[in-house]
Amino acid sequence: MPSLPIRLGVNVDHVATLRNARGGLLPDPVRAALLAIEAGADGITAHLREDRRHIRDTDMARLKREISKPLNFEMAVTDEMVGIALATKPHAVCLVPERRMELTTEGGLDVVGQQATLAPAIAKFNEAGIRASLFISPDPAQIEMAARLKAPVIEIHTGTWCDALAERNSRSDAEWLRVVEGAKLAHSLGLEVHAGHGLDYATAETIAALPQIMELNIGHFLMGEALFVGLAQAIGTMRAAMARGRAKAGQA
Ligand code: PXP
Repeated sequence: MPSLPIRLGVNVDHVATLRNARGGLLPDPVRAALLAIEAGADGITAHLREDRRHIRDTDMARLKREISKPLNFEMAVTDEMVGIALATKPHAVCLVPERRMELTTEGGLDVVGQQATLAPAIAKFNEAGIRASLFISPDPAQIEMAARLKAPVIEIHTGTWCDALAERNSRSDAEWLRVVEGAKLAHSLGLEVHAGHGLDYATAETIAALPQIMELNIGHFLMGEALFVGLAQAIGTMRAAMARGRAKAGQA
């Protein structure tokens, strides 16, 4: 298949984490979002968690008002969040599982087990013209159910693959194959395919070579790099890695 450009969504949650560690207003996640866009981000992702541990309601409202690129509103599927998202009218929502005790979003959504909750939420977002993405493991049953529930987009959870690589675990090849096959299956079912979680320069380059993947959402690694080289340079280097990966998709 011909490969289309791949988008980079930058997640600014960790700027809010740093701000909240001290209280007060700094560093400002909206400033990071504006800078990220100037440096080449195609969109901004922020996760309004139930416990508001990083992004707050006012951050989400300001992001919607102040950024010039698409806002991806990451959220758990609760009545409260669905209401806030519908009122905020972001370009997209990414529906994720949420557990209070987790450090980050640890696993994918159980779309099969949660059909009854997800179906009406997806229908509301479809009706409102907000693109709903389901954050799932590259598991064929979950992908097939996402398509049946008429979600327009899935985001493949790359955490297991990235962790296995980082730990030099022999599972990493099998995990990568699951990502490859998952992307192909989702695309064949008419889903737009995104990916994210735990990506760095090397893994972003690798996954950008999959022509079905249209967007990567990256936060933690970029914010960590930003401490050393600045956010603009980190995003520039990430874009270059993604471009190198995408060029390989063209050669396949
Ligand atoms: N996509 C989703 C749905 C996420 O929950 C996260 C983590 O907040 C990311 C992407 C970004 O992951 P990371 O911060 O590891 O780059």
